[in-house]
Amino acid sequence: MSYAFLHPERYQRSAALFERALRSIPAGVNSTARAQFSGWEPHPIFADHGDGAHLVDVDGNEYVDYLLGLGPMLLGHRPPEVTDAVVERICNVGTVFALPTALEADLADAIVAAVPSVEQVRLVNSGTEAVLYALRLARAYTGRPKVIRFEGHYHGFNDTIYWSKHPDPLEAGDARHPLPVPQGPGVPDELRETLVIAPWNDLSVVEEVLESHRGEIAALITEPVMCNTGCILPEPGYLEGLRSLTERHGVVLIFDEVITGFRLALGGAQERYGVTPDLTVLAKGLGGGFPVAAIGGRREIMELVADGTVSIAGTYSANSIAVAAAHASLEWLADPTRYELLEQRAHRLREGLEQARRDAGVAGSVVGVGGVLQIWFADAPIRSYRDAIEHARPAHFRVFFEEMLDRGVLFHPNHLENLFVSFAHTDDDIDRTIEAAREALRAVRARVGASA
Ligand SMILES: Cc1ncc(COP(=O)(O)O)c(C=O)c1O
Repeated sequence: MSYAFLHPERYQRSAALFERALRSIPAGVNSTARAQFSGWEPHPIFADHGDGAHLVDVDGNEYVDYLLGLGPMLLGHRPPEVTDAVVERICNVGTVFALPTALEADLADAIVAAVPSVEQVRLVNSGTEAVLYALRLARAYTGRPKVIRFEGHYHGFNDTIYWSKHPDPLEAGDARHPLPVPQGPGVPDELRETLVIAPWNDLSVVEEVLESHRGEIAALITEPVMCNTGCILPEPGYLEGLRSLTERHGVVLIFDEVITGFRLALGGAQERYGVTPDLTVLAKGLGGGFPVAAIGGRREIMELVADGTVSIAGTYSANSIAVAAAHASLEWLADPTRYELLEQRAHRLREGLEQARRDAGVAGSVVGVGGVLQIWFADAPIRSYRDAIEHARPAHFRVFFEEMLDRGVLFHPNHLENLFVSFAHTDDDIDRTIEAAREALRAVRARVGASA
């Protein structure tokens, strides 16, 4: 099905820029999540600039922004403390030296102090890189070949893990023991043998798989909150269960906190849920919108990097921009009162949306924790990817997206993405969003019906 905007005349410059971009950029965009086929129909909206929690597009439409660059703009757009630190560094220091700089150790100390599992840390440039290194470290540490990953999670686009993000259930088969499904052609099929896929939020399957692959599993990688199939929370005891099962089997537990890190708490989901993994991957929340990521964890594992047994390289790793941005950002985040405010606002948003949904008489639920949430249009609870495929209604979400966009509220049009709340959102932004949602949800009911 192809979709339109409610008022296409408001997006004419975006439409024209898209036509132009298509000439020389495949799909007209530089990342999959921005493509038409990922939900941006009839075309992506082109950004002009951002300011705090607001974004202005090239046609001059202004939005309260819950897309937030898909997560990194945790402090809002152009946070002055971070921007100033980066500009100062670029102008007075330089960007890349292939030599360490003094600020790197300060930053590493700040990450170690903030994130419970991190005793040592290396900086890289993206979540994808950090995941690649986490898996490499786990395999080197255990001497084992295989990795358990969950259907519906996303851990970046490296070949070894870009499998079973949102597979066709017909291809993946049995919900308890799905087959690995590569993202597409070009991912070497041989890697299939290195992956074991499991459904999330079901400890019994993990227990079974660890038994049946005894001695073969190097790592279990998980998002501690499932943020790449909408927003799905861990069932009570689930993360604790993963911790004790992996410990019992000598398997490295990796938390991919690319989204949850610095967003659910300064120490991420692991602080919030009180479960400490062996390795942690951090990215989006770390750099105040600048490209920087980190891989950290137990000293005993990270020490494999110390003598070169495991190589973590990169011309741009710990470049000045990344270090200055992350350093300034962590200094800003270190004030706990900031998280209290974020909590309050995100909580009020969730409650307001949920009330608006009920009042409109539309089936579903608002699910979230800290500064991340999603509204599910579904008539059953969503605990896993297969639940989402079976119960969630993308057409309802699309109508909600169109109606909210029309009222000046921006988020990703795909129901399997998230809404992100930043430290820059004000009470007024939240009020405006809830008010828009009250009207938008009534429109959802009128256009596509009450039940999911
Ligand atoms: C949980 C998770 N891990 C890894 C990644 C990959 O990060 P990057 O896009 O920085 O490579 C993402 C990106 O969305 C993510 O959500």
